[in-house]
Amino acid sequence: MNIWNDLARHHAATASRPLLALFDDPARASGFSIEACDFLLDYSKTGIDAEARALLLLLAETAGVEARRKAMFTGAAINETEGRAVLHTALRNMQGRLVVAGQEVLAETRATHARLVTFARDLREGRFRGQGGVITDVVNIGIGGSDLGPAMATLALAPYHTGPRCHFVSNVDGAQVADVLRPLDPETTLVIVASKTFTTIETMTNAAAARAWMAAKVADPAAQFAAVSSDLVRTAAFGIAPERVFGFADWVGGRYSVWGPVGLPLMLAIGPAHFEAFLAGAAEMDAHFRAAPLARNLPVLLALVGVWHNQICGYATRAVLPYEQRLSRLPAYLQQLEMESNGKRVAMDGSDLPRHSGPIVWGEPGTNGQHAFFQLLHQGTRIVPCEFLLAAEGHEPELDHQHLLLVANCLAQSEALMRGRSLAEATRLMQASGLSGDECDRQARHRVFPGNRPSTTLLYPRLTPHVLGGILALYEHRVFCEGVILGINSFDQWGVELGKELALALAPVLAGTDAGGGKDASTLALANRIRAIRDH
Ligand code: F6P
Repeated sequence: MNIWNDLARHHAATASRPLLALFDDPARASGFSIEACDFLLDYSKTGIDAEARALLLLLAETAGVEARRKAMFTGAAINETEGRAVLHTALRNMQGRLVVAGQEVLAETRATHARLVTFARDLREGRFRGQGGVITDVVNIGIGGSDLGPAMATLALAPYHTGPRCHFVSNVDGAQVADVLRPLDPETTLVIVASKTFTTIETMTNAAAARAWMAAKVADPAAQFAAVSSDLVRTAAFGIAPERVFGFADWVGGRYSVWGPVGLPLMLAIGPAHFEAFLAGAAEMDAHFRAAPLARNLPVLLALVGVWHNQICGYATRAVLPYEQRLSRLPAYLQQLEMESNGKRVAMDGSDLPRHSGPIVWGEPGTNGQHAFFQLLHQGTRIVPCEFLLAAEGHEPELDHQHLLLVANCLAQSEALMRGRSLAEATRLMQASGLSGDECDRQARHRVFPGNRPSTTLLYPRLTPHVLGGILALYEHRVFCEGVILGINSFDQWGVELGKELALALAPVLAGTDAGGGKDASTLALANRIRAIRDH
C-alpha cells in the first residue's frame, strides 16, 4: 500500500469540495482542533477530513516518527551526516538523568545553566560592572542561530524586561555594527560574541570591530566581553577569560540553541526566573510530544497539516502570521528553523528525495500584513496556507479594546479566506451601489473572493515566557516530524557551505590581487565594475 498515492487520490477526489461544506458536520470545529499544554490548534479550516487525517497519521506511523522521536530524546546519533546526537531538549530538561554513550550529560548542561544564572544576577544586580559603572547595554554579536533566537525572544518578551537594554548585531554589513554601537557608551556596555563554531566570518569580523570600538575608550576591553561557543580553544585565543565563556556541546544545533548559553541576552533582559519559565514551557511541550499518541499530539498534527499542504496539495509556501507585534521576528526565526532544517533535496540515505522538501516559510505580523500582501492571499492565483498565531489577551489592560480589535481582525481573516465572496454576492453589492449592466458585471468580478483558502489558528492565553517556550518547542518538533516523514536529516546544513567558500575566493578578486581566472563572465564583470567604481 502506498500511502502517498492514497493521499494524492483522496486530495484529487476532494479538492473541489468547499471548505465550508465540512462544517455541515456540527462537530467539525471541535473534532479538528487539538488542545495541549497552553495551546489550542484549530485545523478545521483546512481540507483535511477524517479519511485524510487517518492516512496522514498512518504516514507518520509508517515513517517511524515514534521510534525516531525516542532516538532523539535518548541521544542516538540521528544527525547521521555529522555523526551527532540531537539533544537541544536536554538544555530545558531540569529533572532526572540522561545517560548517552555511558556518560551522564545533564549534569554539565545544568552546571552551565547555573553559571549563566550567576553571571546574569551579578550583571543585573550591579556586581559585574563595566569600567564606567553598571552595565546599561548588552550587544550580542552572532548570526543565524546565534542571533535569530535570542533577538526574536528578547523582542517577544519585552513586557518582562527588567535588565540592561539588549542589542543585536548579525550582518557583516558594517552599517549594522556602526549603527548599533554609535549611541552606546563602551564603558557601560557588555559585548557577547555568540558563535557555536567561533569561526563564522560575519561574527568574527563584527567582534573585531566591537573590540576596536571598546579599546578606544576602555583600558581593558576584553574584560567587557563574554563568549558563547562550543569551541573553548578559539574563545581563549580571542582573549575572553574562561569565567565569561559559556560552552555547549556539539549536539546542540545552532538553530536549536536559544535554550542554553545562546539565550544569555534574553536571560539578562528578563532575568533568570522568567528564563526558567521559558525553559519550562518548552519542557512541557517536550513531555507532551514524547507521551501523547500521534492522533492527539500537537507537533505531529501540525506537521501533518504541513505535509498535507506542501507535499499533497502542492502549495509551495506557508505564511506565518502572528497577530502579535512582539512576534515580528518569529517568521525570520522560523525561516531558519524550517528551511535550514528541511530544505534538502537528498534523503538521509543519499537518494534523491522523491517529492518536494519542506516549504518556503514567510510572514509578517497582523494586522500590518493585511495592508500589504493579504491581497494576494485572498485573490491571487496561488494558494498560500496561512498559519495564524493569536493570544486571547494582551499585556496592556488599558488598551484591551485594541487587543479585541486585533483578535477580531485575525478571526475575520481566516473566515474570509475560507468563506470568500461569490459572484452573486459581489453583484448584489454593486447593484446596491447603483451599478447595472456590463459595468456592474465587470466591477463585480473584481470583488469576488474565491475562498476555500486553508488556514490554521494557534491560540494561547497570553505571550508569557512559558507560552513562548511552548511555541518554539512546538515548531521544533513539527520540523522534526516533517523531516522524519520526508526522510530528511533535519539537523545538518550543507547547503550554506558553497556560498561561504565562493565568498572567500572572491575577496582577493575584489581586492585586485587575483585576476579571477575560472570565474564566470557575469561574476567577473560585476567584480570588475565594483573595483572600477571604488578606485575612483
Ligand atoms: O551558515 C549557517 C550556520 O552554520 C547556521 O546553521 C548557524 O546558526 C549560523 O551559521 C551561525 O553559526 P555559528 O553559531 O557557528 O557562528
